[in-house]
Amino acid sequence: MRTQVCIIGGGPSGLLLSQLLHRKGIDTVVLERRSRDYVLSRIRAGVLEWGTVELLREAGVGARMDREGFPHEGTYLALQNRGFRVDFKATTGKQVMVYGQTEVTADLYAARDAMDGVVIDEAEGVTPHALDSDAPFVTWHKDGTEHRIDCDFVIGCDGFHGISRPSIPNSVLREFERVYPFGWLGILSETPPVDDELIYANHPRGFALCSMRNENLSRYYIQCDVNDSLDAWSDRAFWDELKRRIPGEAAERLVTGPSIEKSIAPLRSFVAEPMRWGRLLLCGDAAHIVPPTGAKGLNLAASDVHYAYHALARHYLDGDGEGLERYSEQALSRVWKAIRFSWWFTTLMHRFPDQTEFEQRIQEAELEALEASTAAQTVMAENYVGLPY
Ligand code: FAD
Ligand code: PHB
Repeated sequence: MRTQVCIIGGGPSGLLLSQLLHRKGIDTVVLERRSRDYVLSRIRAGVLEWGTVELLREAGVGARMDREGFPHEGTYLALQNRGFRVDFKATTGKQVMVYGQTEVTADLYAARDAMDGVVIDEAEGVTPHALDSDAPFVTWHKDGTEHRIDCDFVIGCDGFHGISRPSIPNSVLREFERVYPFGWLGILSETPPVDDELIYANHPRGFALCSMRNENLSRYYIQCDVNDSLDAWSDRAFWDELKRRIPGEAAERLVTGPSIEKSIAPLRSFVAEPMRWGRLLLCGDAAHIVPPTGAKGLNLAASDVHYAYHALARHYLDGDGEGLERYSEQALSRVWKAIRFSWWFTTLMHRFPDQTEFEQRIQEAELEALEASTAAQTVMAENYVGLPY
């Protein structure tokens, strides 16, 4: 087999890149380790920056999002059960779109199928080779047979635990990491959202977030011990704890119900440099991880895809390699700003195990300063709605 661009990983970044390149006449093959059902059932991100919205439209997968997604012009922040609103539209002229990653992935798979895009699922032992030569290739097993595909470029879209990043030699790769001493316990429930915008709450008992997917599907999170067992968190215990941490009027309005999904996620900031080595480009979680507080993970994957797409299109359509030369530097410049924002927002909103009273007062003062200052809210909003590409 031969293709121009071999993409490892059929999550949102791999599928979106494949879809965008295909529309420019550039041939791709996507290799995904899991089954399609597994990929489609992962509950993850919920908030899209406007740049992501526009990129999905450009890829021809915006129609259902535009019909069923919910544009949000602001968000609530809360401190000790008292909330205030940050108005994205008034401060930046921009908004975000609430539309689940599950839906984005479903739309991308449907679009790939409609264009006869090649996505090979349940590909085992995917291994890239000769990445520092002009003739890279990738091998894998499926149904007991070994396969090989030759290509011009390999794009690592295979998430944090993928094979692409470790293919860069240790002498080249640098990794930067912060692991936070807590996790997020999240549930999905078929209940109406408590508010029509998100609520991020700082509380002495720990952070809480009220989010949503649609009029009858809510997503809620509370900060927890990352080593907690899910069995220790009955639905009842979750709702009781959530109510303690969010503003009083929201707690009174909250409609509870059985959870249809429940999971605990660790929080981590991580960046790998460089994002290009030879014929390998990394995109999305393969190169970086952010704690979910800033809603940046999927959006950073989309901005990497934007840079990789334009770099590859320039190479194939204009014979100009400058985009590829600059890919790592360009993508990393935006990545580090999102890493900083997510770290700042996480640090501001969570209770740390060793937090002193001094640090707690600083958090409270910073939230009060944010409430009182349009300038501070503008900086927060600029980062939340997404920095320009
Ligand atoms: P992934 O989604 O991880 O996809 C990688 C794909 O590669 C997977 O399908 C995997 O099976 C496949 N793969 C892995 N290894 C191999 C291999 N060796 N061979 C072949 N295939 C392989 N982001 C936001 O922007 N906003 C949010 O609100 C938000 N909330 C989140 C909430 C939670 C609880 C979590 C866990 C994440 C959240 N994120 C959020 C982050 C977001 O989900 C990720 O950043 C996003 O999924 C990254 O996409 P990706 O395609 O780069 O990686
Ligand atoms: C979500 O809806 O899953 C979500 C929303 C905002 C975040 C993180 C997760 O910051």
